[in-house]
Amino acid sequence: MHRRSPGRAGGALGRGVRARRAARLLGHRAAGLPVVAGTVLFKPLPNGVGEVEVGWHLHPDSWGHGYATEAARAVIDRGFDAGVPEVYAVVRPGNQASVAVCARLDMEHIGRFRRWYDVELETFRLTAPVVVE
Ligand SMILES: CC(C)(COP(=O)(O)OP(=O)(O)OC[C@H]1O[C@@H](n2cnc3c(N)ncnc32)[C@H](O)[C@@H]1OP(=O)(O)O)[C@@H](O)C(=O)NCCC(=O)NCCS
Repeated sequence: MHRRSPGRAGGALGRGVRARRAARLLGHRAAGLPVVAGTVLFKPLPNGVGEVEVGWHLHPDSWGHGYATEAARAVIDRGFDAGVPEVYAVVRPGNQASVAVCARLDMEHIGRFRRWYDVELETFRLTAPVVVE
C-alpha cells in the first residue's frame, strides 16, 4: 500500500539507488556499525501558542515494523510525564501511512487546518490522561 512508491524510485535509476542503499546497509551491519532507522520529532508547532507537535520519518528499510508508533508513543509519554497537556500531529492529506500511525496512537482527528504551516494539514490530537493523585 504505502511501501516504496515506484513513482519516487522506480525504473533503472530506482533500482540503482536501492541496490546502493542495500549494499551500504549490509556494509554497516557487517562492520557492526549502527543503522539509523529514522527520526521522531517532538517540538512546538510554529506560529502557535505553545502547542506541541509529534512527527516521524523512517528510512524505507525500517517501514513495517512498528518503529514509528513505538518511538512516538515513547516521546509522547515522556511529554505527558513532563506536564505537556496535549500533543498534535499534522499530516499531509493522503499520507495514509502517517494517518495509520496517528490511529495506532489513538490520536483524534480534529480537522484540516492551515494554522501552523502554510499548507492545509490533517490534524490529530492526543490529550494527556487524567492522573488521580
Ligand atoms: C509514516 C511512516 C513513519 C510510517 O511507517 P510505518 O512503518 O508504516 O509505521 P510503523 O513504524 O508504526 O509500523 C507499523 C507497521 O508495522 C507493522 N508491524 C510489524 N511488526 C510490528 C510490531 N511488532 N509492532 C507494531 N507494528 C508492527 C504494522 O502492522 C504496520 O504495518 P501495516 O501498515 O502494513 O499494517 C513512514 O511511512 C515514513 O517514514 N514515511 C515517510 C515520511 C513521512 O511521511 N512522515 C510523516 C510526515 S507527517
